Amino acid sequence: MQNFTFVNPTRIIFGKAVVAKLGPEAAAAGKKALLVYGGGSIKKNGVYDVLTGALKANGVEIVEHAGVKPNPALSHVKAGIEKAKANGCDVVVAAGGGSVIDEAKAIAAGARFPGDVWDFFCGKAEIREALPLFTALTLPATGSEMNAGCVVTNEATAQKYSAHSPALFPRVSALDPETTLTLPRAQVANGAVDALAHIIEGYFTTRDADAEITDEVVHALARSVVASTLRILKDPADYNARASMMWSATLALNGLATCGYGGMNFINHAIEHSLSALYDIAHGAGLAIVMPAWFKHHLETAGPARLEKFGAAVFGVKTADETILAFEDFFRKAGAPVRLPEAGIPPEDIPKIAANAMGLIRLWGMKHEQPEIEKILNKAK
Ligand code: NZQ
Ligand code: ZN
Repeated sequence: MQNFTFVNPTRIIFGKAVVAKLGPEAAAAGKKALLVYGGGSIKKNGVYDVLTGALKANGVEIVEHAGVKPNPALSHVKAGIEKAKANGCDVVVAAGGGSVIDEAKAIAAGARFPGDVWDFFCGKAEIREALPLFTALTLPATGSEMNAGCVVTNEATAQKYSAHSPALFPRVSALDPETTLTLPRAQVANGAVDALAHIIEGYFTTRDADAEITDEVVHALARSVVASTLRILKDPADYNARASMMWSATLALNGLATCGYGGMNFINHAIEHSLSALYDIAHGAGLAIVMPAWFKHHLETAGPARLEKFGAAVFGVKTADETILAFEDFFRKAGAPVRLPEAGIPPEDIPKIAANAMGLIRLWGMKHEQPEIEKILNKAK
């Protein structure tokens, strides 16, 4: 168990009908909110009406910034920054999935920065301050509602990069599992894969394999994600399964699931971001393709010990090969693609995908070279 510091300042309000509670919370931080949302799901499931009603009832003026797309685009982030600055917004409120929350974070930081917001993503500038951010999460997946990171795609250069700063932690996030009842099946699958990816990256690349409490946190979260997802797919109206899934996905990337690992690397994410950057596929779908391939590579290079431990605790299987098959089986049951062609990606593109991934691998200071990334991707053909 290595030394660690655990800090998470985001206040979570969890349960039925909690979105309205963001009204007084935002009012305590500002008078004019930039309301960031996506393509309209919040208008269909009632979140928009509840949230705008609560903000107005608490005297908060609203400037809307709609149309955030999955894999949020830099140009739309820049438009949001201009809107926030031009209207004198002093608080940002995000309602939607990880893409909406990530774009809201980038805008919150960009609104307090005189330079180019992309500099935060390519390591040229550090985020020191941001407008206060409040979120209503409607898609359990990324953990963005309780972490300090955001991911944006520069569509001109096909770079999907991330920025991190303690200033990006949302002040308050409202998590109402009932808002997830309208999720399409594909997004349920994407969210489950992403939550699993967040805990396995640390577990399998830990510098210290003797941090039992964190291993057990990971096992419990993984069992909960798998069991909740299977329940949701069987009965989409199952509230308790929705609730378990929502809280599990938040805990998967809020810092808790890596305490004591003493360093780790996010290799599956670095490769996946290249897939989303080049083909605009959903993050969860890309991860479902990369993870089984990377597990096979991990087995060859690091041996079976971690795969065996994880498989026994989560899937009730004995061998490393059975663990990899159990992951694939779960991804397939959820409806996610597990090979490149299943997402319409030609295997001939592997060198191009690997070359693009190297940008993030260098930026994140990881010690991998392009031939190794190509070798991993060749296992996803
Ligand atoms: O745009 P709207 O209309 O809201 O529809 C969205 C979108 O089409 C829809 N949706 C969301 N909630 C819904 C709903 N539809 C019906 N009912 C609801 N309740 O779902 C679609 C996908 O939304 P998106 O926000 O893109 O999905 P997700 O939450 O998976 O976010 C993915 C993004 O987050 C990044 C990913 O790379 C990707 O760009 N990540 C962010 C991380 C972070 N900040 O810590 C870490 C992750 O590893 C990840 O990289
Ligand atoms: Zn992820």
